[in-house]
Amino acid sequence: MYKLVIEGASRLEGEVEAGGAKNAALPLLFACLLTDEPCRLTNVPDVADIETTLRLLESLGARIEKPARGELIIDPSAVGSFEAPYDLVRRMRASFLTLGPLLARFGRAHVSRPGGCAIGSRPVDIHLEGMKRLGARIQLEGGYADASARKLEGGHVIFSMPSVGATENVMMAASLAKGSTRLENAAREPEIVDLAGALIKMGAKIRGAGSSVIEIDGVERLRGMDHAVIADRIVAGTFLIGAALTRGDVFVRGARAEHLESLLDALTLAGCRIDVDADGVRARSGARPCPVGIVTAPFPGFPTDLQAQWMSLMCVADGRSEVHERIFENRFMHVEELARMGADIRLQPGGHAVVTGKDLLSGAPVMATDLRASVCLVLAGLAAEGVTEVLRIYHLDRGYEHIEEKLTGLGAVVRREPMESEV
Ligand code: UD1
Repeated sequence: MYKLVIEGASRLEGEVEAGGAKNAALPLLFACLLTDEPCRLTNVPDVADIETTLRLLESLGARIEKPARGELIIDPSAVGSFEAPYDLVRRMRASFLTLGPLLARFGRAHVSRPGGCAIGSRPVDIHLEGMKRLGARIQLEGGYADASARKLEGGHVIFSMPSVGATENVMMAASLAKGSTRLENAAREPEIVDLAGALIKMGAKIRGAGSSVIEIDGVERLRGMDHAVIADRIVAGTFLIGAALTRGDVFVRGARAEHLESLLDALTLAGCRIDVDADGVRARSGARPCPVGIVTAPFPGFPTDLQAQWMSLMCVADGRSEVHERIFENRFMHVEELARMGADIRLQPGGHAVVTGKDLLSGAPVMATDLRASVCLVLAGLAAEGVTEVLRIYHLDRGYEHIEEKLTGLGAVVRREPMESEV
C-alpha cells in the first residue's frame, strides 16, 4: 500500500503527455475476443485497469505479448472459456464488456454482474436489454448473467439512457450478428468512435458512431487489427484544470480540443487562456479562478469524470458556484475529503453542490474513494498550503499513468511512499 505525499503551493508549468485513454483501451481489448486473429494495440496506458483486463483475457485463454512500452499483442485464437469471474469483474466494471464479444463469437457468455460501486448504483440492465433485442436468452443466477444464443440476430435497440458501456457492448455483439442492427439513443463519446474505428478495421460494417444513431450490418467473421488508442481526454482535462488551479502554464501533448470542448469553455469562463494546436492544448492562468457552475452530461456535455477535479478548482474560485452531477447518484465522495482541507461545500439534495471559493486550502491527510475523486484530492493538494497525504491511491493507479512522475515533470513536489497499514 502506498500514499502520495504532496507539498503544496506548487505551480504546474511545462509539457506533459496525455497518454492513451484507459476508457478507450479497455473496450478495444475486449473487442479482440471477436476474432481468432492476433490484434496489435499501441498507445495503451500503463495503468492497473489494463492489467486487470489482461488477466481476464488470459483467464479466457488469450495469449498476451508486450513487445514495447504501450504496445500489446493479443492472440485470441486459443480462447475457449466463456466465463468472466466475480473476482475480476468486481475489481473493474468494464469487465462486463466481455458479454457481447463472447456471446457473438461463441453463442455463450457467463459473466459476473459487477455489484455495487463507490459512485452509486451502476446496474447493467441496459446492456442485458440490448443483448435480448439481438435474440440472446439471459438468465440471472448466482450473481452471474448467463447469456446464450445459437446465432445473434440484428435488431432495433432503443437505449433508455445513452450508456457508454451498453453502447460498446451491443455494438460489438451486433458486428457478428446475422442481419442489421440499429442503435438509438446511443452514447456519443469519443471512446465509442475509437472502438467503431477499430471494429471497422476488423471488417465490421458500422455507420454513425459518434451520433446517437448507430447502424451495424453484421458480418460472418472479423479479422485481426492494428490500432493506436486515442489520447485520454480525462487525463488531459485533469492536467489542464491543474494548470488553472495552480495558476500555472501547461501544454498537454496529444490532447484533442474537439474531445474537450465543454471543459475548455468552462476554463475560459474561469479566466484561463486556452491555446489549441494540432499537437495539443495549452492552459495558462495568472489569477484566482472566477466561479463557473457546471452540469455533468453525456458527451459532448461536461464529463462526469472531470466533475471532482472541477470542484477542486471551484474550491479556490473567487466566489460561489454550483456543481450538478447528473450521471451518477453518489459521485460526491470527495466533498468530505475536500472539506478536511478547508473547502466550503454544501451538498443539496438531487446531486447538487454549492461551492464557496476560499483564498487558500490547507494540506491534510485525505482518503481517496474512487478514481476521479483521488485525483481531485491530488490537485487540491498542489494548490493548498502545507503537506497533503492522499491515502488509498490504488484508486488513482487504476487510471492515471505514472502520475507522480508526470506531476514532478511539471515542477510539483510529489512522492509515493509506502504505508505501514491502512484502516
Ligand atoms: C463509462 C466510463 C466511466 C464514465 C461513464 C460515464 C468506461 C470504462 N467507464 O462508464 O469512466 O464515468 O462512462 O461517462 O468507459 N446505467 C444504467 N443501466 C445500465 C448501464 C448504465 O442505469 O445498464 C446508468 C448508470 O448507472 C449511470 C449512467 O447510466 O447513471 C451512465 O453510465 P454508463 O454510461 O453506462 O457508464 P459506464 O459505461 O459504466
